[in-house]
Amino acid sequence: MSDSRAVMAALDELRGALAPERVVVDRDKLDDYGRDESDLGVHPPEVLVLAETAEEVKRVFAVATRHRLPVVPIGARSGKSGGTLALAGGIALSLERMSRILEIRPEDLTARVQPGVITGVFQQEVEKHGLFYPPDPNSADVCSMGGNVAENAGGPRALKYGVTREYVLGLEVVLPTGEILRVGRQTIKGVAGYDLTALLVGSEGTLGVVTEITVKLLPRPRHVSTALVVFKSVEDAARAISRVLASGVIPRCLELLDDVALQACAKSAPFKFPADAGAAVMVEADGNDEEGVFAEIVRIAELVQADAAGEVIVAQNEAQRRDIWETRKYLSVNLRGLHPLKLSEDIAVPRSRIPEMVRKTREIGAKHGFLVATYGHAGDGNLHANVLFDREDERPRVERAVGEVLRAAVDMGGTITGEHGVGLAKRDYLEYEQGKALVALQRRLKALFDPLGILNPGKIFPPE
Ligand code: LAC
Ligand code: ZN
Repeated sequence: MSDSRAVMAALDELRGALAPERVVVDRDKLDDYGRDESDLGVHPPEVLVLAETAEEVKRVFAVATRHRLPVVPIGARSGKSGGTLALAGGIALSLERMSRILEIRPEDLTARVQPGVITGVFQQEVEKHGLFYPPDPNSADVCSMGGNVAENAGGPRALKYGVTREYVLGLEVVLPTGEILRVGRQTIKGVAGYDLTALLVGSEGTLGVVTEITVKLLPRPRHVSTALVVFKSVEDAARAISRVLASGVIPRCLELLDDVALQACAKSAPFKFPADAGAAVMVEADGNDEEGVFAEIVRIAELVQADAAGEVIVAQNEAQRRDIWETRKYLSVNLRGLHPLKLSEDIAVPRSRIPEMVRKTREIGAKHGFLVATYGHAGDGNLHANVLFDREDERPRVERAVGEVLRAAVDMGGTITGEHGVGLAKRDYLEYEQGKALVALQRRLKALFDPLGILNPGKIFPPE
């Protein structure tokens, strides 16, 4: 923790720099802001500030610089890699009050938002204009655009439409040194200078604090069709997925749920799977031509039929579609119904290795005596392997199992994190994936943006 005299002095200055009611030291509040969805415990900050402008963010950095206090940027606390945990105490800088959609420009197919805008709210707003913001993390109802930028969030639709980075054109960012910069562009094309926007997206709140985001939009596809296929085993499902991908059809989503994930759904999810289902795949196609969308679903149904355990179920109306998606969306939460604790991963492997990766994950779980639920965005090779457990004293063993899963993904030509970020959760494995030299270069980059190392220390890179 930080030197308490430094914290007291900083507190006084923060109260002068921001409205005093936006400088919070209430114990319960600090504990709330010391948690996220990573299951990595509580790491409360010593002060919470609720910024409303870039200028205020700059002032917070000035105070933090004077007293050498860590600053941890916070969005909606829905992150899954521990990116907002205040490992060394200090100042938590919440952007939740910067929650305005500044403009939607249908004629340019762009929009400008503040970081605290809830992603799902933004999606609904642009859809009113016949537009479409594709990145759809399953936490869209609660997560924020700033958090999505920090983590370069993905989601089911990334298979066809790509992840957050593909939609961010420009950013306003405040550096720890106090500069307020505009990087990137407002245009669709633009190649001037280094692509600092791409560097900042996915930098997990370690290089700067984003205070405004310009995104690209698409016209909203007029037709969407959702289907569900049940399989006897996860191997059958994985084979069917590989066959679809090899056939040249790229649906907008191709999601896999294994038998353990289905058990978790059975308790409370709206969609009821057959009791003997060993796996399920959710497919979604979209486009402007209704017949074309239907034809794509039929084609996929033909491709998976040989491996499937029953008929392909196509949602007949919006309510059925919603039931299928709600079932998938709350899986991460519903898994707690099986075992109270879990460590979830988001490895990604080349698509051809999906069957092998699913098998390997189950083997590792069995070896350590844990149930593993695997589900996720199988279409792009991104799987959530969740090691389920009951007691805190099992955690070291769970961590060993997770470590083996991460290394197996890298050994198959994959990555330790496909969408949740390294944060605290995977920092010890970054070097395994990227090697010493690349990690060292990234540390130097970090030092360039944040010479004093006050911004979100301890994330991405393990302490030296
Ligand atoms: C999901 C989150 C965990 O796909 O990424 O449900
Ligand atoms: Zn996911």
